[in-house]
Amino acid sequence: MHRITREKLPHHIAVIMDGNGRWAKKNLLNRIMGHKKGAESVHLVVKTCRELGIQYLTLYAFSIENWQRPKNEIRALSSLLEEYLRLELQEMKETGIKLITIGDTDRLPKTVRDALSDAIEETSENSGMVLNLALSYGGRDEIVDAVKRILRDSKSTDIDENTITKDFFSNYLHTANIPDPDLLIRTSGEYRLSNFLLWQLAYTELYFIDVLWPDFSRDDLIKAITDYQQRERRFGLISDQLSEN
Ligand code: FPP
Repeated sequence: MHRITREKLPHHIAVIMDGNGRWAKKNLLNRIMGHKKGAESVHLVVKTCRELGIQYLTLYAFSIENWQRPKNEIRALSSLLEEYLRLELQEMKETGIKLITIGDTDRLPKTVRDALSDAIEETSENSGMVLNLALSYGGRDEIVDAVKRILRDSKSTDIDENTITKDFFSNYLHTANIPDPDLLIRTSGEYRLSNFLLWQLAYTELYFIDVLWPDFSRDDLIKAITDYQQRERRFGLISDQLSEN
């Protein structure tokens, strides 16, 4: 039995949902069925995080590299996302979830963009939990994009070498106004970041679990959080310095 303590709850959990394809293969199904089952895990994790009082949940739903997948898989993922948004909107409203996105969402099909903007608009006043979907997202792309926008702004405003601090730069990332993740979970037994939140994960606690995303359960999530709660985050300091504060 895993016990979560209220005091040390992570404010922000980020998840790399991996292993849908392998789950399908293992169950002699096609990859699309793996994603379909994966969407059920999304529902479960969103609901559980909301119940636990997590403030921010970021899910890596579609990476910029995923555009290179077969067209039929991209189409299926798009429809699944659209369906998820339409079906979950009511529950998001009832449970106070605010939907936001990061990534180059302009590249998504119009029907998905419409479902997204409806859900974003209709949940914009909610303050229960922020659900942040990373869609057509790449960490390096986000950083390059920030540099380009700083350059552009420097032509019309006073930006010089001294203006550029870490905080200033963070405000140009897609995650401006979102705290960095405290805990990153990656499923399926792979130990990689795969271009996810490269800047933001600098001091995040990493948790890797050898369970395929469609099999990821409420208990697995609670186990990840209790594991996080037993860790000492030193941010480059030594233990004694932490107890002084
Ligand atoms: C990784 O599994 C998963 C994805 C690339 C997509 C994630 C999408 C979902 C969980 C479903 C829809 C999303 C929402 C938000 C409703 P993989 O295909 O890379 O698995 P593999 O490595 O085993 O092939």
